[in-house]
Amino acid sequence: MSKTIAVIGGTGLCDWPGAHLLESREVTTKWGSPSAPLCRYTYQDAGFVFLARHGSGHSVPPHAINYRANIQALKDAGMTEIIAVNAVGGISERFVSGVIALPEQINDYTWGREHTFYDGHDGVVEHIDFSYPYSEPLRLRLCAAAEHLGIDIEPYGTYAVTQGPRLETAAEIVRLARDGNDIVGMTAMPEAALAREAGLDYASVCLVVNPAAGVSDTLITMEDIQAVIDTGMVQVKSLLARCISA
Ligand code: HPA
Repeated sequence: MSKTIAVIGGTGLCDWPGAHLLESREVTTKWGSPSAPLCRYTYQDAGFVFLARHGSGHSVPPHAINYRANIQALKDAGMTEIIAVNAVGGISERFVSGVIALPEQINDYTWGREHTFYDGHDGVVEHIDFSYPYSEPLRLRLCAAAEHLGIDIEPYGTYAVTQGPRLETAAEIVRLARDGNDIVGMTAMPEAALAREAGLDYASVCLVVNPAAGVSDTLITMEDIQAVIDTGMVQVKSLLARCISA
């Protein structure tokens, strides 16, 4: 059982019903407090540390998350790998509601977030390589777990990270499509970059929960999103458990 894999859960995965809670630990870091206590769980033979990105009751919006504290807390706890779970909108054709995507690229459209550990305050300047923002070995392990379980996935994709908390305009989605993005969400950055700065392997499991603005001819409703989450997260959880325990 791995003792060093963490799962950062997003919208639709703020807790883990059915998992066995071994420990819940309130921690703090030099950057402040993470969104929630670090919970050590076992689920379907997998052992991992779980952190609710938006807080245990989904109370922290994407732009207000203390991403530095979240990543630092996981690093301080001895984690070496992070699997992030993100609910996203689908932009390009194959990324319809219910699809699980394992992206391999990011376009960052966020602004004003505390986005680096190298903020210059301690006189250390570092420019990390971020050509390939996700860990390819971890992404491939997730692919293998999906294949083992017979879960259909989109193994590639480019994730556009927007500021939120509002959803996008239809015109913004046209632009994001033109930029080559397949999916859109609000939380992959600066999380992925901070994980790289901290030397942690990081991959993401994205559940497409709605067609992005203007992609379908109906408006986006929270009820529709919740319905996709209710069925999709069951598969996401099995995928994570298989990947972690394999
Ligand atoms: N846009 C941005 N973030 C999201 C969306 C979306 O359509 N759906 C879920 N998170």
